[in-house]
Amino acid sequence: MTVQKHCKIIEIRTLTSDIFSFLLDAGALAEAARPGQFVHVKCGEGLLLRRPISICDVREDKLRIVFQVRGVGTQWLSERTTGEVLDVLGPLGNGFQLPETGKVLLVGGGIGSAPLLFAGRATSNGATAALGFRTGGGAILTEDFEQAEIPVQIASEDGTVGTQGTVDQVVQRCLKEEDYSVVLACGPTPMLRALSQVIEGEGVPCQVSLEERMACGIGACLTCSCKVKGHYMRVCKDGPVFRCEEVDWDA
Ligand SMILES: Cc1cc2nc3c(=O)[nH]c(=O)nc-3n(C[C@H](O)[C@H](O)[C@H](O)COP(=O)(O)OP(=O)(O)OC[C@H]3O[C@@H](n4cnc5c(N)ncnc54)[C@H](O)[C@@H]3O)c2cc1C
Ligand code: FES
Repeated sequence: MTVQKHCKIIEIRTLTSDIFSFLLDAGALAEAARPGQFVHVKCGEGLLLRRPISICDVREDKLRIVFQVRGVGTQWLSERTTGEVLDVLGPLGNGFQLPETGKVLLVGGGIGSAPLLFAGRATSNGATAALGFRTGGGAILTEDFEQAEIPVQIASEDGTVGTQGTVDQVVQRCLKEEDYSVVLACGPTPMLRALSQVIEGEGVPCQVSLEERMACGIGACLTCSCKVKGHYMRVCKDGPVFRCEEVDWDA
């Protein structure tokens, strides 16, 4: 059930110089949310198009979003204060399919780590998070995963935190060390493409959450098309989560 709701911002946390966490009083919208879904947020009167932001976590009727300032919309969002109200549409899209048995390997790149917290907390058989960041100063949500009893393995490109290198190297190590029934991933396309190569031949199913620019967010305009199984699919309505092996990474 998708609803449009005016959600009061009840807590704001600054995670890095350009990444913010908002806790929203979201009522029925929060209660209907599933891991991997997103909300479409109106960013001021001047901007016609809403901006898609993943649902990072849900606790009863409170919904958390974590976003990075990229342009005019997210800049506007970052300037909000506690007590202000956001116009939010959601929950939208098809989320992750969580396995009934076995452990889950969560793989996040940068801000793409956000939706994996909700997914990890919703799994009943345990999870490990492999998170990749450019640099230690940009590492987010690691304490939140640990508080949720999800062990975290970090890679950073400059080696300032965790293992030096990329997250797909950490994934290779995790898959050697332990059995996982599924890999759930979210991050920039080059990271997901590299992950798809690591996963190939490992025999572990993998679901990826894709990002495309969006307009309507509800499947009506085709702005967010991507190629899956040889067909154009809408990231907002058919996704954002797809089976990794079905995505045409060269399209
Ligand atoms: C399903 C989904 C979930 C998302 N979840 C999150 C999240 O949890 N946290 C978060 O910080 N961001 C998330 N994003 C990305 C976020 O929607 C964009 O960063 C945002 O729309 C940019 O708006 P803007 O007005 O600030 O920037 P704009 O001025 O519109 O663009 C600034 C720059 O960002 C790029 N950009 C814009 N939209 C996207 C997009 N959808 N994907 C990739 N690059 C884009 C543009 O090409 C441009 O280079 C998500 C995107 C999708 C599709
Ligand atoms: S944004 Fe309109 S169809 Fe996806």
